[in-house]
Amino acid sequence: MSRNILVTSALPYANGAIHLGHLVEYIQTDIWVRFHKMRGHACWYLCADDTHGTPIMLRADKEGIAPEALIARVHKEHSRDFAGFHVAFDNYHSTHSEETRFFANDIYGKLKAAGLIEVRAVEQFFDPVKEMFLPDRYIKGECPKCGTADQYGDSCESCGAAYAPTDLKNPLSAVSGATPVRKSSDHYFFKLSDRRCQEFLRKATREVCKTQPEAVNKLQEWLGEPGENRLTDWDISRDAPYFGFEIPDAPGKYFYVWLDAPIGYFGSLKHLAARRPEIDVAAFTHPDGGTEMYHFVGKDILYFHALFWPAELAHAGYRIPTAVFAHGFLTVDGQKMSKSRGTFITAESYLKQGLNPEWLRYYYAAKLNATMEDIDLNLDDFIARVNSDLVGKFVNIASRCAGFIHKRFGGALAATASDLLADAQAAGEPIAALYEAREYGKAVREIMALADRANQFVNDHAPWELAKHEGKEAELHRVCSEALNLFRLLTIFMKPVLPRLAAEVEAFLKVAPFAWADAAALLPGGHRIGEYKHLATRVERKQIDALLEANRESLAPAPAPAPPPHSQQRHAEHQQHAEEKTAVSHISIDEFSKVDLRIARIANAEHVEGAEKLIKLTLDLGTETRTVFAGIKSAYDPATLAGRLTVMVANLAPRKMKFGLSEGMVLAASGEGSGIFLLSPDSGAQPGMKVK
Ligand code: MSP
Ligand code: ZN
Repeated sequence: MSRNILVTSALPYANGAIHLGHLVEYIQTDIWVRFHKMRGHACWYLCADDTHGTPIMLRADKEGIAPEALIARVHKEHSRDFAGFHVAFDNYHSTHSEETRFFANDIYGKLKAAGLIEVRAVEQFFDPVKEMFLPDRYIKGECPKCGTADQYGDSCESCGAAYAPTDLKNPLSAVSGATPVRKSSDHYFFKLSDRRCQEFLRKATREVCKTQPEAVNKLQEWLGEPGENRLTDWDISRDAPYFGFEIPDAPGKYFYVWLDAPIGYFGSLKHLAARRPEIDVAAFTHPDGGTEMYHFVGKDILYFHALFWPAELAHAGYRIPTAVFAHGFLTVDGQKMSKSRGTFITAESYLKQGLNPEWLRYYYAAKLNATMEDIDLNLDDFIARVNSDLVGKFVNIASRCAGFIHKRFGGALAATASDLLADAQAAGEPIAALYEAREYGKAVREIMALADRANQFVNDHAPWELAKHEGKEAELHRVCSEALNLFRLLTIFMKPVLPRLAAEVEAFLKVAPFAWADAAALLPGGHRIGEYKHLATRVERKQIDALLEANRESLAPAPAPAPPPHSQQRHAEHQQHAEEKTAVSHISIDEFSKVDLRIARIANAEHVEGAEKLIKLTLDLGTETRTVFAGIKSAYDPATLAGRLTVMVANLAPRKMKFGLSEGMVLAASGEGSGIFLLSPDSGAQPGMKVK
């Protein structure tokens, strides 16, 4: 049955850049949405910039522009960054919009009519120079407990004490530096302490967070025992000057940013519906509209989404979320993202360095689950997983078989059927259940286990061997067709994670965009595929180092960048080495051109039983394959070699070795120390190309 689903990610603040921490959430949500779309459901992915509040107002002030100009610029930057990571919102709107204002006024009006809004005088610090009330974070002073200077108005970073800003000793405004004065003003409160709210939340939070027991526990803690009435009323107004929506019946009073922020989800929906007549807004906002609504959020804002927001909605006669899904925080190499370490990595810089966004999507998917645990981006693990799984296992299946279909069989597939194919097809529903439950890590593991079996199948039948023998054409045809059908099934299952790669595979296989149900059938005999083009490249440590370097902010003013420990020294050694060598003697260009250097794709790499130093390589030269025994075992794990490109000497006299015939040589660099470094061409090079 087709479902009507509204899905949201939290609305990012419009005063900062999108970074890899944010992307945990947007990629997690995007995968879920793409999965549901592939299942044939009507699923709308909505988001917007969160544009209101004091920090945005002050930031615009500092830049000397209007807040509207700031949020317009950031909207462009955010949209660009999300698109760069294939995060495909159906609409990316702004909370500073008439649609959001409409719902904010409506919800507020209904809460007021229900007797849940109350006005009370509040005394706060006021900046007499800026003529504004100061949020806690904009007041600094000495900690009332330990006396440490320069502490914020809500808590002390030295002793951890929490207090009211009015408790600070010698307070100063962080905006103007003036000494703030106490001033009283009327504030509007949403009466969360009302019995109706407390009773409703005690039931509703269990429902809304039912997939996450740890979230339910947290919420029950916040709510306290029945009758305890732990929730206090929520201050939803701020005084002018404030960048936000003025409260309808209260001139000079504005809705606090967190009041209208989640309402921005509906604002985005209404804005989209104006362009999409098939969307019935009321079906998504009214209770019993027969639709579902899910919010993906970080654990830091669970409070707002699972308490305040449902309470507002329910008592204003709106629907409540079907579920709130909270995730943990990103760490990089086990630590909080840090500007001085260069691990506070912006989305923009990642793309600018030329890193493939699907590497990150793949890695996050492989690590994500349905809990609120933090997730760690371990950079070495990132490189290893992308190279060995994504490139070495998954893409490798196609790269080893596609060429034969194209060159030997005019691009037409043979009919296939096998237990392995049937098993892969049968895995579709269990994998779908894992996506649905947000257990992406488990889904990816299932898919990679199938990829292992597919690679084993290719190894066992060695199409490159079959291709050398007459009379084996039919078998070659069948083996490659089966492998490509397996590859197609795996691509369908990976498509929510790797939409771009899937689109390239659809083009290569000459098929319509994959839906989940397509896994029920195979490509029939006679189906013509296109020419295989390179689908993914490996990630290299030096690219990651460059990324960290680009994001590193030195704390001291412009010190000479310290050379990384050994690399500088090693670089000098290499240079010296090269100079000595070139001084030795010369060869003519004719002598050099006798060496036939070719680009080769490592189609397969395996250990050689009984050999200490050798790895057996099967090299694809485009039109033929060669076996080469290479002395690189000390430096490479065969599992990470398959699929990568290198350079080989193609006209070296074949040499009979103890383990078999070696038909050439691959090129690698080495120096005085340990370490062997296989050469690779720049991306775009194709097997068989001449190197000269
Ligand atoms: N504007 C509010 C959300 C309003 S939703 C009605 C906000 N914005 S934010 O830009 O700070 O964060 C947006 C989302 O990104 C939040 O869900 C937040 O938890 C998530 N993340 C921000 N940094 C993160 C990490 N380092 N790791 C994982 N998620 C992170 O909060
Ligand atoms: Zn203190």
